[in-house]
Amino acid sequence: MTTLGTPLSPSATRVMLLGSGELGKEVLIALQRLGVETIAVDRYENAPGQQVAHHARTITMSDPDQLKALIEAEKPQLVVPEIEAIATPMLQQLEDAGVVRVIPTARAARLTMDREGIRRLAAETLGVPTSPYKFCDSLAELQAAIDGGIGYPCIVKPVMSSSGKGQSKIDGPADVQKAWDYAMAGGRVSHGRVIVEGFIDFDYEITLLTVRAQGTDGAVQTQFCEPIGHVQVSGDYVESWQPHPMSPVALQKAQDIARAVTSDLGGQGLFGVELFVKGEQVWFSEVSPRPHDTGMVTMTTQWQNEFELHARAILGLPVDTGLKSPGASAVIYGGVDATGIAFDGVAQALAVPGTDVRLFGKPESFVKRRMGVALAHAADVDTARRNAKEAASRVKPRQA
Ligand SMILES: Nc1ncnc2c1ncn2[C@@H]1O[C@H](COP(=O)(O)OP(=O)(O)OP(=O)(O)O)[C@@H](O)[C@H]1O
Ligand SMILES: [Mg+2]
Repeated sequence: MTTLGTPLSPSATRVMLLGSGELGKEVLIALQRLGVETIAVDRYENAPGQQVAHHARTITMSDPDQLKALIEAEKPQLVVPEIEAIATPMLQQLEDAGVVRVIPTARAARLTMDREGIRRLAAETLGVPTSPYKFCDSLAELQAAIDGGIGYPCIVKPVMSSSGKGQSKIDGPADVQKAWDYAMAGGRVSHGRVIVEGFIDFDYEITLLTVRAQGTDGAVQTQFCEPIGHVQVSGDYVESWQPHPMSPVALQKAQDIARAVTSDLGGQGLFGVELFVKGEQVWFSEVSPRPHDTGMVTMTTQWQNEFELHARAILGLPVDTGLKSPGASAVIYGGVDATGIAFDGVAQALAVPGTDVRLFGKPESFVKRRMGVALAHAADVDTARRNAKEAASRVKPRQA
């Protein structure tokens, strides 16, 4: 699709985002800059991306009938999933029927929507190194999996969850019941299946942004961004930076794993491949077939940020994954449970050298909801990290 049209005209190139949070919002902005007509879908009104798109639609995306009706009514050329909780079998059906192209593919969206599909593909089909794991449907099965070889410490996660929800570490027998109960309360759907993974004592973890985009010869090529380092607190990202230094051997292994997984998932677009590294050992953790939250740092570090890379790749355009400057990002949490909150201290935050701030415009704040991000570029990553954290801490969300 290298011919682009005019939005709101019969020639329009129409793209539908399924999920319009902070990541979707940036993809929509990147698409808008290329004159694409955009349709932002979310489960609630005035989601961040809906505020910048040509059209806003609010549906339950996990409901196959609602999803089908909307796609048939809007007739986008591309459907871009931005979240996991989508009726992916319906997307598959519509893609098979030639109604729409799903990014990167309907199969990739389906396999990555729960932890089981992607883990079995990576470990059992592709043979890439992962933590040892077992899937369990009851507390008894969980205990048996741990006793049968996973051992302590280990991590329990609902198969359908993200951002660390329902996830906990088990250090010994006394924690098992608590971890099971926590997973049952935190999963996205209540069918109660979990993955238990052996704990990897990594030196650091990275996101390797991997892009499958067409070269000028029309063939899809795989390109990598510089590794992104990040810190997770209770399974949720709080800070990221780029580039993260890696030994040549570890970097090669990381790229080989990312290439293997993303080539199998196929299609075009950007992927966030999560990897654990210890010395020269590298383990695959999981992959998002879409921009990654830790990749928000690329808004200040790359010539083309991850959202622009995704937009270009899905439209069949060439990409440049080059680094512009070392930099860092730090999350700004809501800190309060309230709607229509106010943000004090933005001017003070922007007074920190080399910084920028994104406020996502979410209508409702929760104490632990990500409401914005501070970005910093600097001559080195340490300075950038310090400045991004300082800028984030100066932004003070409060009840309006
Ligand atoms: N087997 C493991 N060993 C050690 N640490 C782990 C393991 N699994 C997960 N973690 C830690 O927990 C974090 C979150 O895990 P994971 O990415 O699987 O969950 P998630 O809910 O999908 O998170 P997100 O949506 O933020 O990516 C990881 O980035 C890592 O820091
Ligand atoms: Mg993750």
